[in-house]
Amino acid sequence: RTVVCVVGARPNYMKAAPIVAALKDSARFRPLLVHTGQHYDPDMNDTFFAELGMPAPDANLEVGSGSHAVQTAQVMIRFEPVLDAAHDPIVLVVGDVNSTIACALVAAKKGVPVVHVEAGLRSRDRAMPEEINRVLTDQISDLLFTTERSAAANLTAEGITPERVHFVGNVMIDTLVANLPRATAPAETLAAAGLAVPESFALSTLHRPSNVDEPEVLARLLDCLAEIGRELPVVMPLHPRTRGRIEAAGLAHKLDGRTILPLGPQGYLAMLGLMKHARLVLTDSGGIQEETTALGIPCLTLRDNTERPATVEFGTNTVVGRDTGRILAATREILDNGGKAGRVPEFWDGKAALRIKAVLDSVF
Ligand code: UD1
Repeated sequence: RTVVCVVGARPNYMKAAPIVAALKDSARFRPLLVHTGQHYDPDMNDTFFAELGMPAPDANLEVGSGSHAVQTAQVMIRFEPVLDAAHDPIVLVVGDVNSTIACALVAAKKGVPVVHVEAGLRSRDRAMPEEINRVLTDQISDLLFTTERSAAANLTAEGITPERVHFVGNVMIDTLVANLPRATAPAETLAAAGLAVPESFALSTLHRPSNVDEPEVLARLLDCLAEIGRELPVVMPLHPRTRGRIEAAGLAHKLDGRTILPLGPQGYLAMLGLMKHARLVLTDSGGIQEETTALGIPCLTLRDNTERPATVEFGTNTVVGRDTGRILAATREILDNGGKAGRVPEFWDGKAALRIKAVLDSVF
């Protein structure tokens, strides 16, 4: 059977790569990799395929950017003929981006089995577009693979029968484990951007609409990072959305190259190196909360909630919100006392994709 593996945006690639690799060795399944084109810039895209050794997509739908409605609808329209042409398909989607719900919905309406990897995570914040994508994708999935134990109860509460849910661990950590020895040294990454290499640094990424779309919020967060940067320079790789918002709000002068060291979007191996060597990480990314937990690096999440509670319960993550006082106090605590000691959650061990393959073998 054909397993149509869908990727669309940057955080999807690290999740799909080990699954595609595991399925390549299967006698029963043939992976067909479909890229929706939600992300299209080379540094949000091609770099990752090359570094992760992913095959070129079998199809690229080239949807590009747009409003949620336009982007989701375009993925649906363009995905349908690809699915129609696939032999005895199963559709496998990862994560919570617009491409995830769009392709799951097309498949479910055609009676094609849907498999969701990273199911059951809930922030309970419907203002996040991803939360809507998560809830809806899980409702129409036939098989749900979870990364942490807490997810099962979320799914049960939404009426999803436990027989469909399998706790397999975190495929993104499969990719981390496999690539850690190849991580790029931060000195190399910073030198390539023409930046002086600090002895020690913090790392920050922001891209959530709730943090970057309102100029006052964005300005306050940048001022807070600059304040930290007076003591410990803050390396800040910028998502295109964030770069755009900073420029539109006239805040580019805050990226002064001294307190805040701005970079373009980084590849996977550069990010891995930066995370591994950072004193602490301040982020609103979902994936980075998990990667820092796997690496044992203190993480402050600049959001009011997390859909990944294992990173707080077991890992190194603390959800601090967006209040400057709280962020600075939590940073102080890490710099003075080293921060939370964490442990790596169950099944974040590099073998999640093999577990997924074993379940697919037994179900289909
Ligand atoms: C998307 C996901 C988000 C994920 C993030 C990771 C949804 C709803 N959101 O958000 O969950 O955390 O990806 O990066 O699916 N842009 C470019 N080049 C690109 C892609 C985007 O310049 O290759 C710019 C465009 O101006 C675009 C904006 O970034 O309008 C936002 O892109 P979009 O794909 O809509 O959402 P993200 O913010 O990237």
